[in-house]
Amino acid sequence: MAVNINPRRTPLIAGNWKMNLDHLQAIAFVQKLAWNLKDANHDFAAVEVAVFPPFTDLRSVQTLVSADKLPLAFGAQDMSARDSGAYTGEISGAFLAQLECQYVIIGHSERRTLHNESDEQVAAKVTAAVKHNLVPLICVGESAEDLATHGPSAVPVAQLRAALAGVTNAADIVVAYEPVWAIGSGQAATPDQAEQVAAALRGVLTETLGQDVADKTRILYGGSVKSGNIAAFMREPNVDGALVGGASLDIVEFSGIIRYHKHVGL
Ligand code: PGA
Repeated sequence: MAVNINPRRTPLIAGNWKMNLDHLQAIAFVQKLAWNLKDANHDFAAVEVAVFPPFTDLRSVQTLVSADKLPLAFGAQDMSARDSGAYTGEISGAFLAQLECQYVIIGHSERRTLHNESDEQVAAKVTAAVKHNLVPLICVGESAEDLATHGPSAVPVAQLRAALAGVTNAADIVVAYEPVWAIGSGQAATPDQAEQVAAALRGVLTETLGQDVADKTRILYGGSVKSGNIAAFMREPNVDGALVGGASLDIVEFSGIIRYHKHVGL
């Protein structure tokens, strides 16, 4: 079975905390995670690790990461498409960049569903993220209904095309394929399903941003990823990492996902 060894795409394991852990819990968690991984001699250059805490934790996480020189990346779970102004409750990408966020999740299915975010809004946020030198982690995925009606790749492909409307081939982006039916359900996609859609998404990248960008852009799988199923996803040639929700809140489980090489001997 093929192993993802594309030297242009460092695997990325990203933890989406959603609305969990306050800033004090975040400090304790990040410290412990970093110790755990260091103790295990994790090679951060071989598998990159990023966490996505709530907005109110970001300053604390930034301070800790910078003071202790932790080899962890971090980012926000959403951002505004605007730079500043009368937008009560919104957070500018400029603020996130000031906090040394490297990444920002855009278009998570919970934002699309619970906050009615449209493809156009997602595209505007992606454009704004790139403008502020943040790497947008663009989430796409089909619902169970979409899957039954349109098959596995039609909706994610259309969402990615829309999200890239304002992106040029100079931008650094990450794509996450997260089937809505797999998120938080305990029912992950099969590695074959993830690969099929990831390959289709790479096709969209080739078509819209060119071969070079398509070759170097990481495509993650997300939806009920655990330490017990990550290895099979990582064996797929077009899957370059994972966006992890629930399991990213458990240090042992998340460390197991990050260190997928160890427990499968890849
Ligand atoms: P899950 O969430 O790992 O809990 O399924 C994934 C996500 O929403 O990013």
